[in-house]
Amino acid sequence: MDSKKEHSGERIVRPRLALAYVKGIAIGLLFLAAFLHFSPSFSSVPLLDPEQVILKALETNLAGNWSKKYTAESHLAGTNFGLVEWTKEKFEEYGFESYIDTYDTYLSYPIDHGLSLLDKKSEKVLYKAPLKEDALKKDSTSQGNDTVPTFLGYAANGNVTAEYVYVNYGTEKDFEKLKELGVDVTGKIAVVRYGAIFRGLKVKFAQEAGAVAVLIYSDPAEDNGITPANGFKQYPDGPARHESSVQRGSVQFLGGKGAAPGDPTTPGYASKPGVERQDPHSSIGKIPALPISYREVTPILKKLNGQGIKAPKEWRGELEGYDYSIGPNANVTLNLYNEQNFTITPIWNVYGEIRGENHDEAIIIGNHRDAWIKGGAGDPNSGSATLLEIARALGELKKAGYKFKRSIILQSWDGEEYGLLGSTEYGEFAAKDLQRNVVAYLNLDAAVTGKHLRLSGSPVLNELLLDVAKRLEYPEDGEGSLYDHFIKETKGRIPNLGSGSDYTVFLEHLGIPSVDFGYSNGKNDSVYQYHSNYDSYHWISTFADPGFVFHNSAAKYLSFLSLELSSKEVIKFGLNDYAKDLLKYFKEAVHEIPKEWFKKEIESESVLNQLLTHDFDNSAFIDEVSQGYYPTDTLFPHPEFLAPRQCSHNKVFQMYDVKHHRNLTLGDLVHKTFHDLKQLKNITEIFDSKSKDLQVQYDNKDLLPFWKRIKLHFLIKHHNKLTQYFERAFLYKEGLYERNWFKHVVFASGRHTGYAGQTWPGVREATEDLDFDRLVKWIGIAAVAVKRVSVSLAV
Ligand SMILES: *[C@@H]1O[C@H](CO)[C@@H](O)[C@H](O)[C@H]1NC(C)=O
Ligand SMILES: *[C@@H]1O[C@H](CO)[C@@H](O)[C@H](O)[C@H]1NC(C)=O
Ligand SMILES: *[C@@H]1O[C@H](CO)[C@@H](O)[C@H](O)[C@H]1NC(C)=O
Ligand SMILES: *[C@@H]1O[C@H](CO)[C@@H](O)[C@H](O)[C@H]1NC(C)=O
Ligand SMILES: *[C@@H]1O[C@H](CO)[C@@H](O)[C@H](O)[C@H]1NC(C)=O
Ligand SMILES: *[C@@H]1O[C@H](CO)[C@@H](O)[C@H](O)[C@H]1NC(C)=O
Ligand SMILES: *[C@@H]1O[C@H](CO)[C@@H](O)[C@H](O)[C@H]1NC(C)=O
Repeated sequence: MDSKKEHSGERIVRPRLALAYVKGIAIGLLFLAAFLHFSPSFSSVPLLDPEQVILKALETNLAGNWSKKYTAESHLAGTNFGLVEWTKEKFEEYGFESYIDTYDTYLSYPIDHGLSLLDKKSEKVLYKAPLKEDALKKDSTSQGNDTVPTFLGYAANGNVTAEYVYVNYGTEKDFEKLKELGVDVTGKIAVVRYGAIFRGLKVKFAQEAGAVAVLIYSDPAEDNGITPANGFKQYPDGPARHESSVQRGSVQFLGGKGAAPGDPTTPGYASKPGVERQDPHSSIGKIPALPISYREVTPILKKLNGQGIKAPKEWRGELEGYDYSIGPNANVTLNLYNEQNFTITPIWNVYGEIRGENHDEAIIIGNHRDAWIKGGAGDPNSGSATLLEIARALGELKKAGYKFKRSIILQSWDGEEYGLLGSTEYGEFAAKDLQRNVVAYLNLDAAVTGKHLRLSGSPVLNELLLDVAKRLEYPEDGEGSLYDHFIKETKGRIPNLGSGSDYTVFLEHLGIPSVDFGYSNGKNDSVYQYHSNYDSYHWISTFADPGFVFHNSAAKYLSFLSLELSSKEVIKFGLNDYAKDLLKYFKEAVHEIPKEWFKKEIESESVLNQLLTHDFDNSAFIDEVSQGYYPTDTLFPHPEFLAPRQCSHNKVFQMYDVKHHRNLTLGDLVHKTFHDLKQLKNITEIFDSKSKDLQVQYDNKDLLPFWKRIKLHFLIKHHNKLTQYFERAFLYKEGLYERNWFKHVVFASGRHTGYAGQTWPGVREATEDLDFDRLVKWIGIAAVAVKRVSVSLAV
């Protein structure tokens, strides 16, 4: 897929299926005759075993080499163009056509910072925090004059002096609790611990509570018991977190009202030169914030001992010497100073492609390249090293003469750390192209930070993800296959995606099935010193993955997965798994609805009117992004919910249940939606078995007479397009309530958590907000989406 060419703005009139049939048969007969007989891809005897070629290539393990290269110099977003060019050269060396894709984005770079504890009366400095991580002799990445200062991307500039209070994780609930306890945060600095929610939301909620600044620290309670208090030595002498370790990171909001990932000055459109810029403050904060280590925060928090209310039990961490009193202490203040350079500056994605035979079907494998620190061996360079190994393996396959059926695209994203900038800007720039052509997006990011395989993704990919795991060994002896390991650890559970990495734009904005892969750290693994100087080559090669065997395993897994997605004639998605999850999640969402609402009549004409208008818009939108494969001439195909369409032509439509001649209640609507979901479950079961059947027919096509082969070709083409666009049909053009960048009606990140995934967000949020009319609207949207898909698949 060539987005540069295809995205020049001209509109292509898309042929409808029937038209495609006629045209295809009429014009394509002769061409096909030759094609079917002579094309080598139609030979039933494979010339080589592509999986063996991949395994052969990856017998040599160069992941450690790439890790060393990527962690040698700092590469904050929009810096280190040398690494950009090097990545492009590597892609080219491995047979991928490559180019550098530039966006001008709003970023903030550290200039200066300061944090002092002051005696309130005398203003004498009692303690000045160095705001620095120790340079360790054993770890060269922690030394030198090119380490990145400790800071939080997009934290506002400011210099404030104020009393401070401890606010736990800084969730919305935590601030409510403080109010309840009579603690006034207004005008104070909020000291908050990492954990529970995305750090940007901590700043957002603190700001909303009236705080004037935020200090975020790493509490040892985060470390799963791998702490000095439990006898574990600190890095680099042992697996515990170093006491000076600081977690940098972005404080973009990623949740809440108006939130959208990407450049905060260009929400919803690409940051190409000359575009109009918006005020970024719906996505970033207005108060300064700093990150700090547990060592440096201790003297500050100790001053709160015995001051104010003692924190509730679940608010207490494991900081030694601090009794978790909330404060404030009226005799001391903090001076917090943050200075950054807010600027619009280029970032660079590196694009690589091996063209497949089907240009309109592509698999994208992406990983970001930018890091908060000089090293970043886990995040993102375990992913970057793995991506290059995948490139090398697939390059070997290409060299061996293998013809990829679908295109394989690699993306080395920039600016992920600040708020998924590179991927989001690209996704916004090439939206139509991507929706038309991409089959699946596979995401890496922190591919190896421990030894526990974690997969999450769109349910259409569940079966495939597990199948591929059966064909590879777990890197450590005695564990059996990757599949055995995964089942043992997770019972095979593949959770849905939230946010926090580059799949977000693909799944939640564009409706493209996505996967996130990683060997994560867990029980018994060394603490992952996330976004700290100690996420270094030394750490990964000594503690997380000596010998880079998990990197090697990651490369094998994703190469196999890409191959499987690219090579099978029939796209191997499990639509039934998706439908089953839809039903399960809908049950869960409905469970939250207040019981007394089910009897309530749906009387608000305006809600239904709005729904109809939006549905009209949305139908055209889905029609466009799925090239007509999810036909929409059945506008609002839900007669039990609304009166027949002809009545609704202007504004008058009767809200009667046609059968029972009584007014429609929420209960009726929910009941009907359940029925539709069950029907979709049945239909997708048939659809999936048809997929398998078509693949078998294809595998045995040599036995078919010539004309049947032609028919099979078109059947598969049509079937594949329905499969490919299946998830697009769950988009809603207007987007979610108060954050309309998020278009997926089934999967979104939680508005209160940022990272964690949420299902049927519209339904759940309306329930949470006790907004009956909005709930009706969102169940209506769900019902229409389900019906649309059922109608299309059942044809
Ligand atoms: C990879 O690293 C090893 C060990 O440092 C070295 O011997 C080898 O030459 C390197 N290979 C490449 C291709 O850089
Ligand atoms: C940083 O250190 C290197 C190597 O020690 C030195 O060559 C360089 O001049 C230093 N740069 C700055 C800005 O101090
Ligand atoms: C911050 O403000 C204080 C006065 O409140 C001032 O003394 C100090 O110099 C300021 N810091 C910086 C770096 O400007
Ligand atoms: C604050 O200062 C006052 C006056 O010096 C003193 O009486 C009080 O004990 C101090 N409070 C704390 C918590 O140190
Ligand atoms: C801010 O960054 C821009 C590059 O985007 C640079 O030109 C400018 O000099 C920087 N300003 C400061 C004060 O560092
Ligand atoms: C955890 O690590 C210790 C020491 O490295 C080892 O002895 C023990 O067997 C490990 N436990 C598990 C469950 O892997
Ligand atoms: C789905 O299939 C089952 C089993 O064949 C059947 O009992 C049920 O009525 C079907 N449900 C719908 C809604 O079509």
